[in-house]
Amino acid sequence: MKKLIKAAITSVNSYVPDYILDNDELASMVDTSDEWIMSRTGIKERHILKGNGKGVSYMASNAVEGLLEKSNTSPDEIGLLICGTVTADYHFPATANLICDKVGIKNAFSYDINAACSSFIYSLITASKFIETGAYNKVIVVGADKMSSIVDYSDRTTCVLFGDAAAAVLLEPTKEDVGIMDSILRSDGSGAFHLYQKAGGSVKPPSHESIDAKEHFVYQEGQPVFKFAVTKMADVSVEIMKKNNLSAEDVTWLVPHQANLRIIDATAKRMGIRKEQVMINIQKYGNTTSATIPLCLANWEQQLKKGDNLILSAFGGGFTWGSIYLKWAYNS
Ligand code: ACO
Repeated sequence: MKKLIKAAITSVNSYVPDYILDNDELASMVDTSDEWIMSRTGIKERHILKGNGKGVSYMASNAVEGLLEKSNTSPDEIGLLICGTVTADYHFPATANLICDKVGIKNAFSYDINAACSSFIYSLITASKFIETGAYNKVIVVGADKMSSIVDYSDRTTCVLFGDAAAAVLLEPTKEDVGIMDSILRSDGSGAFHLYQKAGGSVKPPSHESIDAKEHFVYQEGQPVFKFAVTKMADVSVEIMKKNNLSAEDVTWLVPHQANLRIIDATAKRMGIRKEQVMINIQKYGNTTSATIPLCLANWEQQLKKGDNLILSAFGGGFTWGSIYLKWAYNS
């Protein structure tokens, strides 16, 4: 079905904390090495948010403040803000409410979406519907995670993977042939227990025992997650290309979730696209969960041109996965 009004990203901005935790520092904390981490994941360093009392809303509000400034948008013009995150400041209220308060957005409703590493693409598609129906004209979508708050820095199988970051996009309506063209989003809860936080929720509220057992940290069975990620992210990326009659050469950029360089390479190979068509910054930031895709868009913004065909693809806990086909809407 052809959309009369499409939702287009019209600005993007990111915030990354200053502190850099590199592979050599990690090797002084756990039994690992730069060589192992680089060859298995492609990660060289990651940024970590330091300082008491600073959570996701701290990073996200910095990203949103910059976004409002660079797009000359007043906080009063924003009608909706959605924050994709798995490391909310608190169980409640929503981190999105706190972000709005910090940046002075007062005429909006706001809420969080948690779909693990797919949180940003789920949030972007949800937000796009409010634009396409004509209900809202300016919507902000944030992807932000402070993974360092749920990572066990004595567990070498997970602590090397993750980093902290936030990035935000502004969505506006357009009648031009740009913006979000199509999407495929999926989930499969039967994979939940390969990648999750065992305690801290309503099934197992926090207790002395759960803390002693380190059950409030990320638990991941790396290999089943890897296998599922490689298959599903590639399947859905190929599916959205076919559905929209896009050849490999028609795709200007693949913007993949940055969980593991080997997963990104396998996805690009299945799509038949060259490495030069793939946004990769995993070496600098690691897996920042909800922030990876908008952080790529922010890093590559200057190179993006109006009409470029982008495929955004993600995979995460849940399991959740999906792809978005969008045409970039502006020249920087
Ligand atoms: N340094 C050194 N050795 C290590 C490290 C480390 N940091 N971590 C694990 N090892 C060891 C293991 O103990 C194991 O040793 P053993 O053979 O003596 O038992 C060996 O290396 C191989 O371990 P594997 O788990 O088989 O390693 P693998 O090649 O699978 O890589 C990894 C592990 C990087 C975690 C990979 O499985 C992966 O990327 N999985 C997918 C992660 C992902 O995509 N997650 C989804 C998104 S995250 C989200 O949604 C929040």
